[in-house]
Amino acid sequence: MIHHTIQGTAVPALGFGTFRLPGDDCREGVEHALGIGYRHIDTAQGYHNEEFVGAGLRRAGVPREDIFLVSKVAPDNFAGDGAATSTLESLRKLGTDYVDLMLLHWPDPEVPLEEPLTALARLQREGAVRHIGVSNFPPSLVERARAVTELFCNQVEYHPYLSQTRLLEQAQRHDLLLTAYCPIARGKVLDDPVLRDIGAGHGKTPAQVTLRWLAQQERVAAIPKSAHAQRRVDNLDIFDFELSDEEMAAVFALDREQRLVDPAGGPDWER
Ligand SMILES: NC(=O)c1ccc[n+]([C@@H]2O[C@H](COP(=O)([O-])OP(=O)(O)OC[C@H]3O[C@@H](n4cnc5c(N)ncnc54)[C@H](OP(=O)(O)O)[C@@H]3O)[C@@H](O)[C@H]2O)c1
Repeated sequence: MIHHTIQGTAVPALGFGTFRLPGDDCREGVEHALGIGYRHIDTAQGYHNEEFVGAGLRRAGVPREDIFLVSKVAPDNFAGDGAATSTLESLRKLGTDYVDLMLLHWPDPEVPLEEPLTALARLQREGAVRHIGVSNFPPSLVERARAVTELFCNQVEYHPYLSQTRLLEQAQRHDLLLTAYCPIARGKVLDDPVLRDIGAGHGKTPAQVTLRWLAQQERVAAIPKSAHAQRRVDNLDIFDFELSDEEMAAVFALDREQRLVDPAGGPDWER
């Protein structure tokens, strides 16, 4: 496993995503992922599976302090003290005293950023939240959030078909984690001839080349999701090879500004 040190905290560069992984599949997936060596788990209030993530954590029996556990406050809970009360509810569902990282899931122009960030900062002082971050925030909104409280992370869509140059520069400048969601572009990388060629030289698949490309970048973590045990094994099997500078550049060159997650009413990504 590669770890990135962010503000003095070691973060596993590969984690397990749980979006659209409900119920028992989630419990089994998290238990299995931890059993084979994943130590970074990503969930959200909006995934409605935090209690199943919690059940998987309990059954895996891995010491809590060895796991980097991430959840997200749903925008519906941003107003007033809602970020704090809903985070405490998340902790109850997850069966833990703290999350390593709590993110604001999406920017919400209806609620001043100060409200949820101040509420989370209080929980941070009380020990229930180790680090505070955001998700789906364009660069200028990250700066605004940083003016309210110390930020640890921005989680955004990032894969070979969508570059994130500005956010990467911002992450290096401010020592932030940039977590890549949809890291294998929801399967779109699987048939890519360039990724296939690079993989052939290492005995790896296009998905493995892509995950390695992400994890090898400074301050970048990737959180692929799979409901299949063998794919979870394959996605973790990226730490016995390295991409050369030329191979890294060849994957960067695949950018085609293809955004897979772009809901109506979402942020202006260029801001
Ligand atoms: N912050 C946000 O707004 C946000 C948005 C989206 C996602 N996320 C987070 O990021 C995580 C990952 O994103 P994602 O789930 O949307 O996309 P993804 O991880 O890029 O792709 C997941 C899809 O690829 C398939 N897959 C996974 N590994 C594979 C492999 N080795 N070979 C072939 N197919 C494979 C999965 O199918 P099976 O499951 O059937 O194996 C699933 O359909 C989410 O689970 C969530 O935790 C966050």
